[in-house]
Amino acid sequence: MLAVVPPPVTVRVPSKINLLLSVGDLRDDGYHDLTTVFHALSLTDEVTVTATTGEPGVEVTGEGERLVPTGDDNLALRAVRALAEHVGRPEDADRVRVVIRKGIPVAGGMAGGSADAAATLVACSALWHLDLHRDELAEIAATLGSDVPFALYGGTALGTGRGERLVPVLSRHTYHWVLAFDQRGLSTPKVFGELDRLRATGDPPRVGAPEALLEALASGDPRRLALLLGNDLQAAAVSLRPGLRRTLRAGVTAGALAGVVSGSGPTCAFLCSDGESALRVAAELAGAGVCRTVRVAHGPVPGARVRDE
Ligand code: C5P
Repeated sequence: MLAVVPPPVTVRVPSKINLLLSVGDLRDDGYHDLTTVFHALSLTDEVTVTATTGEPGVEVTGEGERLVPTGDDNLALRAVRALAEHVGRPEDADRVRVVIRKGIPVAGGMAGGSADAAATLVACSALWHLDLHRDELAEIAATLGSDVPFALYGGTALGTGRGERLVPVLSRHTYHWVLAFDQRGLSTPKVFGELDRLRATGDPPRVGAPEALLEALASGDPRRLALLLGNDLQAAAVSLRPGLRRTLRAGVTAGALAGVVSGSGPTCAFLCSDGESALRVAAELAGAGVCRTVRVAHGPVPGARVRDE
């Protein structure tokens, strides 16, 4: 009898920025307690999973393709294994090929690796006809990384704990962003470590509670939102990569309402008044010689979704 080979499944998954990232104390498990407002952007990766008996493993193309590890520690392959084990079919993990098309910068502070893991969970779940609820996938996602659950849900969400506990924030408005990619990535643990060091030797500024920002989001007024963007990791990212100070200034000089380092950096996100302004800011920033490349994006957008062919 001929075995029926299921068709490949492709999932599109958003990047994220943190509109607000308040970092608390270092915990005993090596993580920091966070209060953060995640915002999913239209800058995306695409992940295709295919059933294979020949060539399991992962292949990466696109933005930063040579920087992504393709061994067993690849986060997408870890997602395949975690899901296969969760449903009691560990042997299925060796019968999948994962192809990742990257648009999200690698080690850029936009949760690109986490996005690929979330996309892989959704894709394998469809490939294997598992019919799992997104909340069940989110539990597996949280074991893979702090930002993986958010990439499943997308939208805008308040995150606490390590960032994995999420409450959706309803927002009917679209915001327009320009993203400045740096020449090289930054290691997330190093940036958190630099913040601990800065706090041990001084008193870097801390962002406040999220309430005012959540109200600004609900108003839909980008000018109000711009005043409230903030990131405790920014001082640490700038300390490790002093050139970011120039990038942040250049975005505002180019006409953005405000700029903020995204997550642990080094990508800088600039909020603009509308889509046309974002295009103008992007063009000017691209010519300013302060970053490797620029992209425009909007948010919020949905989380990891199977793509309609
Ligand atoms: O959860 P994830 O694997 O993405 O985290 C990468 C690293 O970032 C952690 O090992 C830790 O050093 C740091 N981190 C942290 N506190 C968080 C999230 C991440 O210190 N809430």
